[in-house]
Amino acid sequence: MKFLRGGILALMSTEKTFYIETFGCQMNAHDSEKVIGTLEHEGYTRVEDEEAAGLILYNTCSIRDKAEQKVFHRLNEYKKMQGEGKKFAVIGCVAQQEGEKIFEKAPYVSLVSGSASYRNLPEMLVRLEAGENRITGLDDRQTDETFDTEFTARSNPHRGYITIIEGCDKFCSYCVVPYTRGKERSRTSDSVLAEARRMADMGYTDIQLLGQNVNSYRDSSGKRTFAEVLGAIGQMAGVRRVRFTTSHPRDFTQDIIDVIDAVPQVCDHVHLPVQSGSSIVLKAMQREYTREWYLERIAWIKAAKREISMTTDIIVGFPGETEEDFEQTASLLDEVGYDGVFAFQYSPRPNTPAIHMEETVGVEVKAARLQRLMDRQRELQRISYGRHLGQVMEVMVEGYNRQRGQVTGRSSQNKTVNFTVTQPILPALGSYQTVRITQTFPNSLVGEAVSA
Ligand code: 5AD
Ligand code: SF4
Repeated sequence: MKFLRGGILALMSTEKTFYIETFGCQMNAHDSEKVIGTLEHEGYTRVEDEEAAGLILYNTCSIRDKAEQKVFHRLNEYKKMQGEGKKFAVIGCVAQQEGEKIFEKAPYVSLVSGSASYRNLPEMLVRLEAGENRITGLDDRQTDETFDTEFTARSNPHRGYITIIEGCDKFCSYCVVPYTRGKERSRTSDSVLAEARRMADMGYTDIQLLGQNVNSYRDSSGKRTFAEVLGAIGQMAGVRRVRFTTSHPRDFTQDIIDVIDAVPQVCDHVHLPVQSGSSIVLKAMQREYTREWYLERIAWIKAAKREISMTTDIIVGFPGETEEDFEQTASLLDEVGYDGVFAFQYSPRPNTPAIHMEETVGVEVKAARLQRLMDRQRELQRISYGRHLGQVMEVMVEGYNRQRGQVTGRSSQNKTVNFTVTQPILPALGSYQTVRITQTFPNSLVGEAVSA
């Protein structure tokens, strides 16, 4: 216990406790793991209930307007708690984008920090504890530094993430990321491999390399290519799977396919966002490739010795997208044969060039196009998932559905597999089971365990 000025007794229990809420992509989820580890190292204790927390952190996403609105809605809810002596921190992409405006909108917030400033968190926390209430970490977007910490609090004991490249220099005309996460900067491959080694020693068997454009990775020490890093981690003792996301078509090179072919531990799945199937729209999006150029990379992937599963992101209703452009996107789905599509309605974002383009596609048309696309993709997946019927695959156990008497897990291609076992003892979480597929759905597979 500690006495504050004025002699008020403050309970330690809420003083150095924190609660964190995270929105957005995997990069954000992993940033939170690092923020949690940093806070714990600074003497804070994490609590699962915001009522019990002295510090509430909100890790935000601004990729689409909806995500951003959630933040302000949530901040309004915090308002009710401001009299309880709690402190609030807004971090992540909305923090970076809105900056000090957050203090105006929500004066009870004491700390606003973008991801490029997280390495200064210990110092910001000291100022917070000293009672400062206008602390910002907003000026680091031009930094060459990355946020590496040995104190990462990983939430899953079997699958672990490693950010190998931060920021983005691609400047697609619709995207906030270059403005919120700052310039592209890669870690040294030695530090990436050392982190992977430590994780493998701790028992992690599934390692996922992260980056806004993970394959734009350029070893800052010049020693290894991205594909070589993938291969080296895949071949480490103890590592059974290495994944990577998200790949950018511009930097997608044949050597990535070669390493998937050569090293079985490198997962046979590529997430390669196309955004649109129309070269005209791609030009307006400043994607710097055409439909044909993208399809050439897809042809390389299809020519691999192992079957590689492909997934993508698509934006519908970009300014100027005609019915014909949209049809080209729809036909691309047939041509590629994706195993998963994440499709979004275009949402104009602050600071991006596209915000100045006239929105020619109405809300209803956007919604209708999205629906048509998803319906079509579902049909395609219903058929394409069927190819797995009768196949035998390795599944990493992630959980149990006791009601259905099924074990749930993931294949190397990142597909959900629900399966039954005959032995009375359920396989352990994180273990690998050999499963024969007996039924297929558009988004999952069903099977039964077989002895390896
Ligand atoms: N509007 C809609 N979707 C967007 N994305 C990125 N920016 C926008 C935007 N302004 C989508 C892209 C990207 C995914 C993470 O989010 O498809 O790949
Ligand atoms: Fe959202 Fe992009 Fe920020 Fe991830 S990097 S949280 S997707 S805005």
